[in-house]
Amino acid sequence: MAKRIPEPTTLPRERAFLVGVEIYQEKNLLSLDDSLAELALLVDTAGLEVVGEMTQKLDRPNPETYIGSGKVEELKALAEETLAQVIVFDNELNPRHQRELESLFGEKVRVIDRTALILDIFAQHAHTSEGMLQVELAQYEYYLPRLTRQWTHLARQAGGGGGRSGSVGGVGLRGPGETQLEVDRRQVRAKISHLKKELEKVRARRERYRAQRKRNRIPTVALVGYTNAGKSTLLNRIAKTEIYAADQLFATLDPTTRRVEMSGGYAALLTDTVGFIQKLPTTLVAAFRATLEEIAEADLLLHVVDISHPNAMAQFEAVQQTLQEIGASHIPVLTALNKVDRLKDPDAAQAVLENYPQAVAISATKGIGIPALMSKIAQELYETYTPIQLWLPYQQGQLLSLFHEAGQVEKIEHGRGGVLISGRIPGRLVAQFKEYQAAHPPKEQEA
Ligand code: GTP
Repeated sequence: MAKRIPEPTTLPRERAFLVGVEIYQEKNLLSLDDSLAELALLVDTAGLEVVGEMTQKLDRPNPETYIGSGKVEELKALAEETLAQVIVFDNELNPRHQRELESLFGEKVRVIDRTALILDIFAQHAHTSEGMLQVELAQYEYYLPRLTRQWTHLARQAGGGGGRSGSVGGVGLRGPGETQLEVDRRQVRAKISHLKKELEKVRARRERYRAQRKRNRIPTVALVGYTNAGKSTLLNRIAKTEIYAADQLFATLDPTTRRVEMSGGYAALLTDTVGFIQKLPTTLVAAFRATLEEIAEADLLLHVVDISHPNAMAQFEAVQQTLQEIGASHIPVLTALNKVDRLKDPDAAQAVLENYPQAVAISATKGIGIPALMSKIAQELYETYTPIQLWLPYQQGQLLSLFHEAGQVEKIEHGRGGVLISGRIPGRLVAQFKEYQAAHPPKEQEA
């Protein structure tokens, strides 16, 4: 496969003007100002310069321009005054909003939303082939309904936004009676189906690794947390490896797994995962299904919270919400309240502990609280393995292999209609085996 060389991203410090809208009926975790402050950080991470911002509170979005028509005029004047080149909406714009706004602002000013911005950051930070494929696919799927002549033209100029999709439009022969836009759409669809096939191949490979890991019966701990909470730093600290950690949002996009040895001879695999963020569109969550599957398959989640952040609780809730969306809310969770070194009053951390389930106060950079955290992890992983004895009929082959894959088999005896098996299984699997719990085979099956 040809080596991909990332294209240069957006021009240096493009000038960005931010727009935040609060819709009264929508429940938001962050206040309008806090959400906009977060958007400013995202914009900075993407390499743009914030030159101004504007907010509006509405009952519902304007169907054409999202913000009201008076506000559009105000925005136009402000954009002109600040020499803005990009307008970034904190809210998700639908294709119609996008088209209307683009036509109002003309060719000189691009209009993008939070999703496009996050996609652009993802594109800059993806390094593995799977990460790059996921981002590219998400970008094409996002842009397909938004393709306009103007967009393809601008995307080629900007190189960002559309990311590596710079070749969309322009190339490719027109079929009889086809407009350039139709050619573009056809090409994007073809590209999407090609990327999906490529991803399937990569996923199959990952699945094999995962099955192998399960066979080795080393439990997995997935580090989850809001972007910038300190997951990579913590994994570095625990596994003493050098993973890229930066004061940037979404510095880690691809999951990194490390084996760690704990006291008592226990081992675990720790996986760093993509950071979460509020208003992470479900389409984006879906695009990272494979990465997120790592989380849903973990034996334990280690939720890293930046306790020094003024919105720590809202960030904690945003992560919990995403965990629910990806079907991981059943997995036991430990909370690591990180960056306690930044708290002026260390006793405050102690008080805050009570607000979070199963929490340990730590500092990943200073090494505070790490031994306590490690022993809690070992305890959770090994002591929540429940001893169990089952009579499993041969028809339940799937459950038998699940026991082998996820549990620790201590004794197995093959009988006439099934097996008598005893050992330990992670607590989360107990329910599945419940109806087969038995100390000996049923009377009629005994030899
Ligand atoms: P994403 O990749 O965005 O998901 O971020 P992450 O959660 O992996 O965060 P990362 O480890 O990259 O850390 C983010 C920033 O927080 C870096 O500048 C770290 O140096 C800093 N940081 C991490 N842990 C601590 C800590 O315990 N104390 C202090 N003061 N800073 C920390």
